[in-house]
Amino acid sequence: MNPDIASALAEMDKINVSRLEHPGPLALEPASCRFLAAFIRATGARKVLEFGSGFSSLMIARELGEQEGSYLLSIDNSPQYSRLAKDSVESSESRAKTEFRVAPLRPKFYGMRLLLSYSLPKGLLEALGPFDLVLIDPPHHQYGRESVFYDAFPALAPGGYVILDDANREEAEKKYLSSWDAAYGDAINPVVLEGIGKGLAVIEKLEDVPRWPLPAGESVLATLETLRNAGRLLFGRKE
Ligand SMILES: C[S@@+](CC[C@H](N)C(=O)[O-])C[C@H]1O[C@@H](n2cnc3c(N)ncnc32)[C@H](O)[C@@H]1O
Repeated sequence: MNPDIASALAEMDKINVSRLEHPGPLALEPASCRFLAAFIRATGARKVLEFGSGFSSLMIARELGEQEGSYLLSIDNSPQYSRLAKDSVESSESRAKTEFRVAPLRPKFYGMRLLLSYSLPKGLLEALGPFDLVLIDPPHHQYGRESVFYDAFPALAPGGYVILDDANREEAEKKYLSSWDAAYGDAINPVVLEGIGKGLAVIEKLEDVPRWPLPAGESVLATLETLRNAGRLLFGRKE
């Protein structure tokens, strides 16, 4: 097993996740929070990019602490939840450098596939990176969960990792994992930890490569799902 993953698995039970603070089912599960914090410790990650602000932001900021060069960029589509996450980090004892950005989810083409993705200034992630770790935990289903990997990949340092939450879901995250595999092949090394929370996928970036074309066969379904979800966002229904 990858030594960083093995070390985090061995140490995660020592991490405290307060039941009084944990906000409930939409937040990263307590076991996943423990693994995340232990993994940051094991890898020595300093620069973290997060999609889906919330309780996880607090866990990351606490773990980064005041380490030299540490930085969390947390992106969310909801001004309300971005503000809540920012407030919780600011009222904690963490002195980590953090930045919370609100970016709307908009449909964008990735090859022939229309996906919702966070509308960010072009080149922003690359300019603020390279990141050592990316956490993917936006709203569930096709609300940016597949696309952020494509957007974040160039801003992730070779040797860095992506962690995807909810990795056990057959009809969503498992499909995104196989799309990412098709797009990057041997340049990534995914490991799925099914027993942690709702499943965590830990994907190591081995080298920088351009994305290969996504399989066209999946595009129609993904595009229809994106259109449905774009409509839901427009009319205020998120999950
Ligand atoms: C799957 S949640 C996870 C958010 C975050 N990673 C966490 O651990 O709390 C996805 C979305 O729910 C929203 N959200 C964040 N905190 C929330 C809360 N306490 N209750 C409801 N929704 C929340 C945010 O807009 C976020 O993008």
